[in-house]
Amino acid sequence: MYSLMSKDNRSAEVADALRERAATMRPGDRLPPVRDLVQEFRASAATISHALAHLQAVGVLKAEPGRGTFVTGRNRLPEADYSWQSQALGRARVDIRRTTRLGAHGGPDDIQLSWGYLAAELQPIDDLRALGARAARSSHAWSMMPPTGLPDLRRAFAAEYHAEPGDVLVVPGGQQALVYAMRTLAEPGMAVVVESPTYPGAMIAAQSAGLELVAVPADGEGIRTDKLADALERTRATLLYLQPCYANPTGTVLPPARRQEILRLAAEHGAFVIEDDWARHLVIDGAPPPPLLTDDPDGHVVSITTLTKPVAPGMRVAAVIARGPAGERLRGARVADDMCVPAVLQETALGLLTSSAWPRHLKRLRSRLGERRDAMLSELHATGLRMRVAQVPTGGIHLWARLPEGTDTAALSRRAQEAGVLIGDGSQFFIDEPPAPFLRLSYATASIPQIAEGIRRFAQ
Ligand SMILES: Cc1ncc(COP(=O)(O)O)c(C=O)c1O
Repeated sequence: MYSLMSKDNRSAEVADALRERAATMRPGDRLPPVRDLVQEFRASAATISHALAHLQAVGVLKAEPGRGTFVTGRNRLPEADYSWQSQALGRARVDIRRTTRLGAHGGPDDIQLSWGYLAAELQPIDDLRALGARAARSSHAWSMMPPTGLPDLRRAFAAEYHAEPGDVLVVPGGQQALVYAMRTLAEPGMAVVVESPTYPGAMIAAQSAGLELVAVPADGEGIRTDKLADALERTRATLLYLQPCYANPTGTVLPPARRQEILRLAAEHGAFVIEDDWARHLVIDGAPPPPLLTDDPDGHVVSITTLTKPVAPGMRVAAVIARGPAGERLRGARVADDMCVPAVLQETALGLLTSSAWPRHLKRLRSRLGERRDAMLSELHATGLRMRVAQVPTGGIHLWARLPEGTDTAALSRRAQEAGVLIGDGSQFFIDEPPAPFLRLSYATASIPQIAEGIRRFAQ
């Protein structure tokens, strides 16, 4: 079947029907004129013309001006045989089942309790509009930027990490930063140690970099450092991926003793720590801990910060902060991937980060996220669901809820989706078998009434 343009389903349907008809005709046969097709399909002339144009573009029909539209016979060609490709490609590196969750937008009527980005009304849309329009009008809007990023934007990112602007590399989003860092800091075939549960996007980033995932369990205080020491010893891994601040999915914050122990282990094993600092600006209660990078003088920690989370998913501007030869390699090899983040995006990001709109936005975001988190918790309580949120997160956008033993979370999330509620199946966040059934519930995308309705529907 063709998928013509998703917004034009009717012309896709007409195109499918005409394609089937063309397959029963002889090359050179003429199709009825547009006005007849309009009547036959009860569709507008524009819809019919759209369908015909598509079939001409793919070679099924040929238009001859003044004479009509003819069947080419191309539809009679045998079906393509792609079977050789799997053998040539070998084993897939990236586990596709984990990637589907990342793109799970759902339909417009679904209640979204699984998406990891801010609802439109929580984004600084007016500021983005004004700053984006100004950036698009600037004389260098469509010029090439330095591969490492706009100098002033690098300076703005560096300030938060007490780093040198020269240590900063601007990239298009945190996910890209993860793949890039993993690929540069380890060789294919090497191990990367990650806490489990963790962000599935980090797992597929590691897979796409050809790395072996080594899971170390996490508890209510983040990665278990006693187990980490064993894993580093056993695997000789020199790369560790962590989210020290409001980890996705558990919301945990690494306490000072574990931070120190991680830095000690990294030094002992000569290892890098990728600090995925995606949620620093999504604080709700108190203050986030300082970035791990600020406690590390010797360049073990490479930090990643992103604006997609506290601003908008389309603000694909992030930074990798790395010192020493690792930083030089990361920045030096940048153009192997692409040339730069577009100027308009970088200028807009810079405008936002350096204006009074930024602290104003973060202040508002803190209280709005707090309201949504609390609304979700009280709705869970009110519905009497047998679900336990062991730790109320002090930042981030997710609740991590444990279900009764034996619950099939994959089946549960499928059933919820049938009822129009999207929730995160906890098993996707574990590297191997989940030790217990969990769900991840996100409170940043749905409004408070939607959260209430979603939880009620789910409870039913
Ligand atoms: C923990 C974590 N890190 C990184 C990312 C990547 O974010 P982005 O590529 O949108 O900046 C996400 C997105 O869900 C995430 O949850």
